[in-house]
Amino acid sequence: MTCRMFEDKQHASLYQKYRFDPPDELKELILQYLEKKKGKPHQLAVDLGCGTGQNSRSLTPYFQQVVGIDVSESQVEEARAVPGFPNLSYRVGTAENLPFPDGSVDLLTAASAAHWFDTEGFIKEAVRVLKPHGCLALFGYGDNMKMHHESCGDQLNNIYEEVKQILLPYTSTRVTGANSKLKDLFEAIPFPDKERIEIIPIKLQLSIKNVTGFIQTFSMYQAYLRADPNAATALLEKTASRILDELKVSSTEAKVDFIMEYFCVLACKPE
Ligand SMILES: C[S@@+](CC[C@H](N)C(=O)[O-])C[C@H]1O[C@@H](n2cnc3c(N)ncnc32)[C@H](O)[C@@H]1O
Repeated sequence: MTCRMFEDKQHASLYQKYRFDPPDELKELILQYLEKKKGKPHQLAVDLGCGTGQNSRSLTPYFQQVVGIDVSESQVEEARAVPGFPNLSYRVGTAENLPFPDGSVDLLTAASAAHWFDTEGFIKEAVRVLKPHGCLALFGYGDNMKMHHESCGDQLNNIYEEVKQILLPYTSTRVTGANSKLKDLFEAIPFPDKERIEIIPIKLQLSIKNVTGFIQTFSMYQAYLRADPNAATALLEKTASRILDELKVSSTEAKVDFIMEYFCVLACKPE
C-alpha cells in the first residue's frame, strides 16, 4: 500500500528549500557503475519518489531524458516550478506502476525513497522496465548524523540525539527500514549482479538555519507537528538556540560541519 506522508503543500515547500542534492561522490559512483555495466547510450533515467526533484535535476547532464515520479502532487508541483531543465519532466505516479514500456529505462534511481515503496510491486516494475544491463541505484542515509564545530562536537551531538529521542515515537517503521540500509529490499532484488555499500561518509557544511530546516523535512517531525504543533515548533526554536549558545554566535547563518553516512544499493539487470 502506498504511504502518503508527503502530501502537505507546506511540507513540499520545506523539501524544496532544505533537502540537499545528492553528493557528487555518490553521483559519480552510480554513473560509473552504469557506465561499467551497460555503457552508452544513456537515454532514459527515471527517478522514483523524486520529491521536489533534487536528484532528478542532478541526473540531467548525463541522460537524453530524465523523468521524476512521485505519488505526492504537492511534491511534483514544487519540482515542476524549478525552471531550466528542458530534458526533465515529472509525473504524479507510483513506483509500483510505472508508465514506461518493457525494457526502456537505462537507470532507475530512488533517493531516500525506496523504503516507502511496496517491495514486491516495485521490484516487479523495475525488472519489467529496465533495459538489459540497465541499472538500479537506491540510496539514502541513516539517522546517525553528527555535527561538529571546532571543539563543540559532543555537545552538538547531544542536542541532535535529544531531538531524535523526542521524534522516535513519531517514526514510521518504513523509516526504520531505511535505517537498516535497505537490507530486505536488497535481498529481494532478483538480479545476481548486485551490491550494497553500507557506508559512504559525506561531510557537508550547513548553516544552523539549514540544520533545523532539514529536521523540519523529516516525516517524523511532520508527524510530531500534526500531533502537537506548539511542542514541535518549540523544539525547533530550542534546538536552534542551543546550537547558537554552543557555537557562541548570534546568527543562524553560522555554519557547522554536518557528517552523514549514505548507503547505496546497486544492481544490474541481466541480458
Ligand atoms: C523522503 S522523500 C525523498 C524525496 C527526494 N527523493 C529527496 O531525496 O529529497 C520520499 C518521497 O517518496 C515519495 N513516495 C512515497 N511512496 C511512493 C511510491 N510508492 N511511489 C512513488 N513515490 C513515493 C513521497 O511522496 C516522497 O516525496
